[in-house]
Amino acid sequence: ANKKLLLLPGDGIGPEVMVEAHRVIDWLGRTGRARFDIAEDLVGGASIEARGTPITEAVIERALEADAVLFGSVGGPQWDSQGFDNRPEIAILELRKRLGLFANLRPAPVFDALVDASPLKAEIVRGLDLMIVREATGGIYFGEPRGIETLADGTKRGINTEVYTTAEIERVARVAFELARKRAGRVTSVEKANVMESGLLWRQTVTALGAAEYPDVQLSHMYADNCAMQLAKNPRQFDVIVTSNLFGDLLSDLASMLTGSLGMLPSATLGAPDASGRRHALYEPIHGSAPDIAGKGLANPLAQILSLAMLLRYSFDMQEDGALIEQAVAGVLASGMRTADILQPGTARIGTRTMGDAVLRELDKL
Ligand code: NAI
Ligand code: MG
Repeated sequence: ANKKLLLLPGDGIGPEVMVEAHRVIDWLGRTGRARFDIAEDLVGGASIEARGTPITEAVIERALEADAVLFGSVGGPQWDSQGFDNRPEIAILELRKRLGLFANLRPAPVFDALVDASPLKAEIVRGLDLMIVREATGGIYFGEPRGIETLADGTKRGINTEVYTTAEIERVARVAFELARKRAGRVTSVEKANVMESGLLWRQTVTALGAAEYPDVQLSHMYADNCAMQLAKNPRQFDVIVTSNLFGDLLSDLASMLTGSLGMLPSATLGAPDASGRRHALYEPIHGSAPDIAGKGLANPLAQILSLAMLLRYSFDMQEDGALIEQAVAGVLASGMRTADILQPGTARIGTRTMGDAVLRELDKL
């Protein structure tokens, strides 16, 4: 049967960059590499305008039925005054919750042609190929008790609690170990076991799982503060980093800046495999809807296209086709093509469509 894809372009530059990813999907079909049944629907502000809500139940049903979801980005200033529960960003939170997407994969690759876009020295980042696996549905952002309380004397206190169960730690660690097996074979587990109970349980649980099921993967542990320092000092020491929701939020933003190119970075969020090995998954660029450049044809489509490459790798185990797309992107960059977001002096600037054209031309050559 054909693979079922759901495209959710969203708002701002989302639809502009999704069109270019769609052309790559069409290329895969045309060249006989893969056949997809493609559906497309509204999320975010676009859905608020048309349907009065950031995501409808029908769209969630379609996402649950799809083999994979390719998401653009949502949000924009025109919806910022919406109530908390009706913001465009609710769409992504709802999808995460309903599809059970607990493992957020954030690669930080440095393309050879972009080494001098990094704020770090070229010799430190050349060849960097780092993957951060962030736990995405548990931890301090969701743990109970939480809230703001008023004490008897009128003082207020804000409370968040980091809670992790062994099951939550094991399932995200498993994702990291499996990834490492297909990469350089190394996992660094990051927490603060020195000062946090949940961090201590994290370390014990990952250690036990590694010893029992992944003895072939080289496991090491690092405190989160040291990890931040090591990412700036010597990021190439890492292969796969696995960490909590909070630390992963911070460390993955830091790691993404090492690449110097926000408009280049894809991500994946995966659920747990069922008995038949099928898992829900959503792929999206890490950038937002970029309202400042929306509608101008200036957006860099490469993060969306690289998100498609991740989709092929992780939802369909199409490693070769994923690699082909990544090579095409590297080739385009090597030929000097740059959209406005890539901070390198002296390179000619092109728009969204020209960049999409260049990727297709490069694919035809490979
Ligand atoms: P942003 O990522 O949309 O933009 C930050 C800066 O980077 C802007 O100057 C923008 O023009 C530029 N930029 C981003 N992607 C680019 C691309 N592909 N090509 C060229 N330039 C690019 O972040 P910002 O401005 O903080 O948020 C804008 C809206 O996007 C907000 O409503 C925010 O809530 C939403 N957002 C949505 C996300 C999602 O859908 N998952 C993630 C992050 C933000
Ligand atoms: Mg963040």
